[in-house]
Amino acid sequence: MSSTFQAPKGTYDILPAVSGTVLAVRDALAAPLRRAGYSYIETPVFEDVKLFSRGVGESTDIVTKEMFNLVKRGKEELALRPEMTASVLRATLQANLHRSGNLPVKVWYSGSQYRYERPQKGRYRQFWQVGAEAIGAEDPALDAELIILAVDAYRSLGLKNFRMLLNSLGDRTCRPVYRAALQEFLRGLDLDEDTLRRAEINPLRVLDDKRPEVQAQLTGAPLLADYLCEDCKAYHEQVRELLTAAQISFEDDPKLVRGLDYYTRTTFEFVHDGLGAQSAVGGGGRYDGLSEMIGGPALPSVGWALGVDRTVLALEAEGISLTQPSTNAVFAVPLGEQARRVLFALVTELRREGVSADFAYGAKGLKAAMKDADRSGARFALVAGERDLAENLVQLKDLTTGDQTPVALDALVATLKEKLQ
Ligand code: HAM
Repeated sequence: MSSTFQAPKGTYDILPAVSGTVLAVRDALAAPLRRAGYSYIETPVFEDVKLFSRGVGESTDIVTKEMFNLVKRGKEELALRPEMTASVLRATLQANLHRSGNLPVKVWYSGSQYRYERPQKGRYRQFWQVGAEAIGAEDPALDAELIILAVDAYRSLGLKNFRMLLNSLGDRTCRPVYRAALQEFLRGLDLDEDTLRRAEINPLRVLDDKRPEVQAQLTGAPLLADYLCEDCKAYHEQVRELLTAAQISFEDDPKLVRGLDYYTRTTFEFVHDGLGAQSAVGGGGRYDGLSEMIGGPALPSVGWALGVDRTVLALEAEGISLTQPSTNAVFAVPLGEQARRVLFALVTELRREGVSADFAYGAKGLKAAMKDADRSGARFALVAGERDLAENLVQLKDLTTGDQTPVALDALVATLKEKLQ
């Protein structure tokens, strides 16, 4: 250990070796959204804790066990955001975006989220999501649009081994009927006290229980698919048809519940088969009642969030490395004091002209400086000593071929721009 401090448990540093990939992943996940009319939005990383308890759900693990509550003057009024859907809807309502023009309001975001989970590979206490929300419209084409955009984003990264699980969670008409039937079924099982309590508060969550002894008892559980009302059935069928028409493959998963309480109708999850236990690389769905839950008008909405950390792991699992453009085009190597001043000025000029350039800092000899030039990934090294400068020249060395040519100082910027085109 070379420092007294370590990154907090469940967090990690995104270091230069992978940060290029992380940025490229964030860009790739967002690119399809930008092409589909979604505008960028940012919200604070902390909010009124009640926004999450009401929005995400009082009985969810996220709210009961995983919130980072901030203590302000002895009271826990604020919490770090565990997700952004509730915040984005809060921001939309606060700014009256839903009244200012066309619905749906379509926004996308990219940011860190915080959940106090038991850390393991792919599960962190600070993690990153790129997400999208389409607020204020009930239209199966909107659900399909978002799913297609997510699949296109994964495909654009070259990912292949991911699958989409799809379900409908019904609406306020049919879900309560199903809930009662499921509760009745669960009461008859041999379950521990905690699980029985969960069955009373949020029976659908029990379907998501990963323990084999629980799963074994759930074989004959009533399925929501059999309880969907006509409207929900027709809506779901349209989403499925639109996805099929867009060549999106999906697996119907009648037990897909998701860990947040606001979902209604369409719900989906993207899983990657190379990730072990933390296989969900993204997920989302429709949340038609959330606006009312946080004090707004009826605003049927749909959205998703894709996990950046897990998408990076999925790329690793598939052996995909994203080609990074080298950071610098030019690396300047001065020989002597006068050359330092001249080349430093040239580097500044090149940067101002839009050519990326770096400089051999620290008084280094030619050999060490040329090694730095190679390591920098630059295409050209710019070398000059007193004799070159006396003739108003610099040496331009192509680091791929090794060819070196003298170039007049006042022609350098133009020459480099031409060669780099
Ligand atoms: P979520 O399923 O909780 O949904 O999170 C979405 C994605 O974030 C997950 O599929 C996963 O890739 C990533 N993720 C979640 N927790 C962790 C963690 N502890 N460590 C690493 N990655 C993680 C939501 O957050 C909803 N807000 C999605 C949504 C948007 N629904 C409607 N609109």
